[in-house]
Amino acid sequence: MSNPKFVAISGSLRSGSFNTAVLNALKERYADKADITVFPLNDIPLFNQDDEENPAQSVEALRQALRDSDGLIVSSPEYNHGTSGVLKNSLDWASRPFGQSSYKDKPVLLMTASPAATGGVRAHNELYNAFLASNCDLVAGPQIAIAAAHSKIEGDKLTDQGTLEFIDQQFAKLLAKAGA
Ligand code: FNR
Repeated sequence: MSNPKFVAISGSLRSGSFNTAVLNALKERYADKADITVFPLNDIPLFNQDDEENPAQSVEALRQALRDSDGLIVSSPEYNHGTSGVLKNSLDWASRPFGQSSYKDKPVLLMTASPAATGGVRAHNELYNAFLASNCDLVAGPQIAIAAAHSKIEGDKLTDQGTLEFIDQQFAKLLAKAGA
């Protein structure tokens, strides 16, 4: 049986993003168990409901990647006590038209990372509720909210062993939901 395929999206476009570094590390760490593709959100336009049935090619590419996947992994920064506009905007596109979300019924593993001691937990809660609205299959259990993220990353990857081992437990649940 082939490995499950997951789309991973970072809510930050920043070149040195800690959230992208988390996803880069997971792609490498779980390479023998899953194919993780980090999908960049740089080209996603602002959501306009007028265009939800005929969106830009970049939006269609995101939707198709999600439809073709076995699940979604999200790592979000916290901006002003919420998720980033970049991420919310992309999820709004991906969740539409009504009833046709491209990640409908798919397993979703959610995490946040921040240099703050709070680890982006407020953005985590906001996203948790947003995902509840779109009929996906959220991985429950301990929240992955990575605090002091700047001290846990080397180069472009998360390297902190304790954090990676904590994520392992939640990733195992994602794999189980994906039937792996
Ligand atoms: C932040 N940052 C931030 N951090 C946090 O923990 N809570 C917050 O409410 C905010 N608010 C906030 C607003 C805006 C507009 C910016 C640009 C930043 C800091 C943020 O966690 C930090 O810049 C991270 O490095 C962003 O994530 P990436 O880019 O490293 O993935």
